[in-house]
Amino acid sequence: MSRVAIYPGSFDPITNGHVWIIKRGLDVFDRLIVAIARNVKKTSLFDLAERQDLIRQALDGDSRVEIVSFDGLLVDYARKRGAHVILRGLRAVADFEYEFQMANMNRKLAPEVETIFMMTGEEYFYVSSALVKEVAALGGDVEDLVPKCVVGPLKRKAGAA
Ligand code: PNS
Repeated sequence: MSRVAIYPGSFDPITNGHVWIIKRGLDVFDRLIVAIARNVKKTSLFDLAERQDLIRQALDGDSRVEIVSFDGLLVDYARKRGAHVILRGLRAVADFEYEFQMANMNRKLAPEVETIFMMTGEEYFYVSSALVKEVAALGGDVEDLVPKCVVGPLKRKAGAA
């Protein structure tokens, strides 16, 4: 039986930290479903199709990764797909409180779905989509922080925002 995990997030845009977790995740799971949440409260810089396209380019068409978007509760989507694992990256202590709450809420809603955390690589533990957008908007260098395919669109969009 193949081991499948859902890796959910906003991915606005995908960063090198996300890519790192996906690559490491594929050492542990046979397949990953990268699931972009449609209904996150945050306003996004990239629309859903753009985010999906950037993830696809960044992963260079790895056939073990499926890129989808979902509406509603993550655990409902996990159930629909028959996935029993949610994969999340943990960067610093600051992530813990939020992740702890989400993991426990998801467990309350769907006890059969387990959240598994991976520590983000040390070279990316300070990287977040929010910060790279801010850096790009203010003219800073984001080349080491996001996949190559994201650099141009991010500079254009964030710079214009
Ligand atoms: O990349 P993010 O913004 O940290 O990802 C957060 C995400 C999308 C995983 C979370 O907001 C989510 O699961 N949203 C779907 C709606 C849902 O299930 N909400 C209840 C979470 S306990």
